[in-house]
Amino acid sequence: MAKVKTKWICQNCGYETASYLGKCPDCGQFSTFIEEVIQNTVEIKSNNSSMNIRNIKDAGYTKINDVNIDKSIRISSGMDELDRVLGGGFVEGSLCLLAGDPGIGKSTLTLQTVKFISNNNKTVLYICAEESTSQVKLRAKRLDVTSDNLYVTQQNCLEEIVNQIENLKPDFLVVDSIQSVFSASILSSTGSVSQIRECTNILMRISKQLNITTIIIGHVTKEGNIAGPKVLEHMVDCVLNFEGEKYKTIRILRAIKNRFGAISEVGVFNMEDKGLVEVKNPSELFLSDRQNQITSGSAIIPVLEGTRCLLLEVQALTGTTPYPNPRRVARGIEYDRLLQILAVLEKRVGLNLSKQDVYINVIGGIDIEEPSADLGVALSVLTSARDTTINENTVILGEIGLNGEVRSVDNLEARLKEAKKLGFGRAIIPKINSSQTKERIQKTNIEIIEVSKIIDAIKNI
Ligand code: TYD
Ligand code: MG
Repeated sequence: MAKVKTKWICQNCGYETASYLGKCPDCGQFSTFIEEVIQNTVEIKSNNSSMNIRNIKDAGYTKINDVNIDKSIRISSGMDELDRVLGGGFVEGSLCLLAGDPGIGKSTLTLQTVKFISNNNKTVLYICAEESTSQVKLRAKRLDVTSDNLYVTQQNCLEEIVNQIENLKPDFLVVDSIQSVFSASILSSTGSVSQIRECTNILMRISKQLNITTIIIGHVTKEGNIAGPKVLEHMVDCVLNFEGEKYKTIRILRAIKNRFGAISEVGVFNMEDKGLVEVKNPSELFLSDRQNQITSGSAIIPVLEGTRCLLLEVQALTGTTPYPNPRRVARGIEYDRLLQILAVLEKRVGLNLSKQDVYINVIGGIDIEEPSADLGVALSVLTSARDTTINENTVILGEIGLNGEVRSVDNLEARLKEAKKLGFGRAIIPKINSSQTKERIQKTNIEIIEVSKIIDAIKNI
């Protein structure tokens, strides 16, 4: 009998080696390698011969001018927040991966989506691979799902799922979750990289051929004993990350890959008793806990997330360290960025932090990725260290260069408009060079203080 060939695959990123490694050289995770059997993919037996790869001779080509774009119809999910993240709804026939920690609300979001879609005369098939149909029914009851067009099936064998899809030919398909689906043609265990890759591939092919819009749910795990959605990212049309803090009800939906739209959009939801509720004005929510009495180390920063501006509060706390090396903790901003800001504060402002711990926290669980928050972070650290406060009516914007200069940020107007809308009357911003921009900004009716050095900003807080 021929020897069974195996290889070791990182369950986090899909990196392959011939022998076991403790740390993945690609993604840097530890203990994520699992031995899987190598085999040539066996063809799935299905009722429909169209599952086989098409003969190349049949695959005709068309002039790009003749391609009919009416085919890319958008299907609304019934929730503006989700539609915006998708770039205007699901594209018909596309395959979308919804990833997130267990318990974050992926099944709830999906069920609310299919509630709306099935109520609009579309047939939906919901594959419950990890829960029983009665568990899904319980959730459906909680969410008032009553549609006649929604079919559920408890199935985790891919070959059976393919048969059911071909029998029902639904318009919309949900697979909850991909890590619980297995193909009988693959020897590796359920949830391994080989399994989820192969299963996603088959589902992708069938959804394209039958023009079924598909949502695949995938868990993110840190342990690496089941393969993460990362190994699927390159295959699917769209990857949505559902994030949130464990003990908070705010949930943030972020597109990290989207073949049909922008990737910087975020949607904000609140998990309530009867499912997820859209948060139309997140800035208000994020600032709602802000105390009337402003304490030191707090700064308000208008941050752009896709087309929308959010006002976020950044808090800093500094204190004498009991350790030989002071601690730096950054939640919501990049760690390296914080180190750079602290270095600029030491060198250009003369703020000595070498014996001080520095903690940064962005309220609301949002990660700020753009550098326009630099000045706000710097001023919050400075006010905490000097025990002063920033004017409570002020928002702060600007990227900080290594020489202590304040650099420009884009889309100032949108940011200042949002600040004005939420009642802020004053903004510290980088120097504006264009008179056109200046004119437009003056129309926002907010008092602006232009600064070109971090020192100037400190004088004006
Ligand atoms: P779920 O959608 O099952 O999470 P996932 O599919 O990502 O694992 O939701 C899990 C949590 O959401 C659970 O702790 C209960 C809570 N929940 C609500 O608070 N309200 C609701 O209406 C529903 C359906 C769930
Ligand atoms: Mg679930």
